[in-house]
Amino acid sequence: MRVMVTGGLGFIGSHLVRWILNHQPEVEVINVDSLTYAGNPENLADVKDNPRYRWRRISVSDSLALNTLLDESPVDAIMNLAAESHVDRSIQSGVPFMETNVLGTQVLLEAARSHGVKRFLQVSTDEVYGSLGPDGLFSETSPLAPNSPYSASKASADLLTLAAFHTYRQDIIVTRCSNNYGPYQFPEKLIPLFVTNGLEQKPWPLYGDGLNVRDWLHVEDHVRALWMVLQSGSPGEVYNIGGNNEHTNREIAHALADLMGLPYSIIVPVADRLGHDRRYAIDANKIRRELGWQPEVSWSQGLQDTVAWYRDHRGWWERIKSGTYLQYYRNQYGVL
Ligand code: NAD
Ligand code: TYD
Repeated sequence: MRVMVTGGLGFIGSHLVRWILNHQPEVEVINVDSLTYAGNPENLADVKDNPRYRWRRISVSDSLALNTLLDESPVDAIMNLAAESHVDRSIQSGVPFMETNVLGTQVLLEAARSHGVKRFLQVSTDEVYGSLGPDGLFSETSPLAPNSPYSASKASADLLTLAAFHTYRQDIIVTRCSNNYGPYQFPEKLIPLFVTNGLEQKPWPLYGDGLNVRDWLHVEDHVRALWMVLQSGSPGEVYNIGGNNEHTNREIAHALADLMGLPYSIIVPVADRLGHDRRYAIDANKIRRELGWQPEVSWSQGLQDTVAWYRDHRGWWERIKSGTYLQYYRNQYGVL
């Protein structure tokens, strides 16, 4: 079996590629990643010489390049993770989000269809459901109500994917996961930003009152779920994936400060994010019931291991934060 993973040089994509290579000895992986600021070949340095792995530097919105690749190397399945993924960046400009997340998904769906790719998995987010009040959970039938340019672009991609099932009976599945954490997460997201700032004795910017709630899942639990859905999910269906693990941002800041032996005074309240969604929480009963998936990494162990990973991989995030990694890849591969 050969699988195309898009966005495999990013945070979740790199975990997925490594997981497949380590757990599925018969599977070959083609990683399609255009290497934006968020992609980093270092994330997969340990597998780059594996004969079952290849990276092609192609954008998912580049129809010609994608179709040529699929002509040369047919695949059985596509797992689409390539995306612009940071809400704060989408508030600055939504344009790259539309190009990659919306147009890129449509280009991939059409390429999959014309090449007879057997299954297409669209990796989406709980953010497409919008914001919850203090109670309740998002189920797969909750209405889509995205509030940021990022989540609106992901909701659009979900709708395009579901439309391909309705119109063409294309074998597609959509997954919607809650917030991920773990090694190799780009240090612009909450947990890696706070941990790396802590290691540099820099302040932790906590947005607004710090009481926004997210449902956190370790990235390894997410990629295991993605593989189970690819193997055993039903065509045309949506599967929520979540950790049943809600925390306010302030609770996370306190937990990280405790783990790192830092005073709470490192936490500095700053202006709130525009349109900041108050609460996300996932009902993951469907994937538990139908596919037997459940999270395996506990929050306390996962958070402790994540802090340790950033402490032990200082070079990885220092090169990102200083921008020297971009300079290096610009020299090696041209404009990024
Ligand atoms: P990331 O930003 O770390 O990685 C994105 C990757 O996509 C990078 O390697 C980048 O180079 C690549 N990419 C961007 N534009 C591309 C393009 N046009 N063509 C090819 N490659 C391109 O993102 P992530 O956090 O790993 O998220 C992966 C996917 O999972 C995204 O679709 C995201 O919406 C979804 N998701 C993320 C989370 C989370 O908490 N991080 C939660 C739920 C769902
Ligand atoms: P983030 O990691 O950007 O993920 P998302 O917006 O996709 O949920 O943010 C997680 C939460 O942390 C969100 O409520 C915003 C908040 N946050 C801060 O308080 N300070 C920060 O510096 C960042 C990046 C996020």
